[in-house]
Amino acid sequence: MNKKFLNLGIQPLANSFLKSNSKKTLAKEFFYNLEVSFDTDSYLVSVTNPVNPKLQYTDKYAHRASESITMRESFKKIADKLKKKYSPNTVMEIGSNDGVFIRNFPKNKILAVEPCKNLANLTKYKYKTFPNFWNKRLANQIFLKSKKADIIFSANTISHIPNLKETFDAIELSLSDNGVLVIEDPSIHAVIKNNSYDQFYDEHVYVFSAIAMANIVKKSNLRLFDAEQLTTHGGSMRYYICKDLAKHKITKKIKLIFKKEKKAKLNKLLTYLEFSKRVKKSKHKLVEIFKKLKNKNKNIISYGATYKSSTIFNYCKIGKKFINYVTDTTLNKQGKFTPGQHIPIISPQEGMNVRVDYAFLGAWNFKKEILKKEKEFIKRGGKFITHVPLPKIISK
Ligand code: TMP
Repeated sequence: MNKKFLNLGIQPLANSFLKSNSKKTLAKEFFYNLEVSFDTDSYLVSVTNPVNPKLQYTDKYAHRASESITMRESFKKIADKLKKKYSPNTVMEIGSNDGVFIRNFPKNKILAVEPCKNLANLTKYKYKTFPNFWNKRLANQIFLKSKKADIIFSANTISHIPNLKETFDAIELSLSDNGVLVIEDPSIHAVIKNNSYDQFYDEHVYVFSAIAMANIVKKSNLRLFDAEQLTTHGGSMRYYICKDLAKHKITKKIKLIFKKEKKAKLNKLLTYLEFSKRVKKSKHKLVEIFKKLKNKNKNIISYGATYKSSTIFNYCKIGKKFINYVTDTTLNKQGKFTPGQHIPIISPQEGMNVRVDYAFLGAWNFKKEILKKEKEFIKRGGKFITHVPLPKIISK
């Protein structure tokens, strides 16, 4: 049974940056109520009323996975590992974004699926790219002509697709007999540990645990046989899944992960109700920090126009009153305005100037990369603010 445990209020689409802040543009902005539920049968955590994907994955989709060195390196590493371990003939990626994973493979091995036309256009000249939503109809169309996939890879995408049954049924009919499905998505265990409630936004319809994933794939004659914890996106899990009758043996690692998740009570509603209380406290503490700094006339900006910061700013009502602007390296976010709070976005070259006293880490999952990059800012006394695991000013 689905039980609501968290209400993050009225939210815009977190990746829908506005071209202008004119009255006409603002009047057309889409909002919905972001509520999160826990299913006491499958242990799955999901957004209660998902938004229609056709509103989200358009030809204006802003996120580019290759913007971060961390992600580029992570995808290269897993591509090399999969090549070595499984020697696949056909590799399909669901949600290929700007090609950050597939670029590690020769073009004759790759099938790419990417519904955002602007992104599909980036890879279609080199790789066979299908500019469509993933479903059974598309799977049938692709594999009418191609050999079944030995590897299906999907990072930060399966959690975005409302219809999981259709998604996994379509994968089951696309995999070769001993093929392996590799999924990466943010982990609910990390969310609970870090109090990172900003992992919830319109596109993260699901935030999986391994125990939930095992239950879900079972319904499509698939089984979870291995997994590994990742540090990407503030704590993710990489799942290895195969057909029921495939040769892959269940590993010690996944058994240990199941054990850890049960110890953390990820299969109990109470865990999520307690988390919800901590989220409210986190909001009050963060707003308090911003208010105190503003009372001292400090200049505050935000670093990284992330979906995560969209959830925070709209839930905590942190807007232009507190934040002068947001910096982001992504060219097509610059010159636009953040969803909901309409804070201007500019380049870091322009924005990380001597007048900045504090920068909120909107991209906290890249903290290491950012602190390394912004040594000058820190040296001259600039400070970062974070909300994970607790709202605070980072002192060093
Ligand atoms: P993500 O958390 O969804 O991957 O988005 C990270 C965003 O932060 C992306 O728009 C790029 C931006 N960013 C910066 O502006 N500077 C940086 O140093 C890093 C690592 C990311």
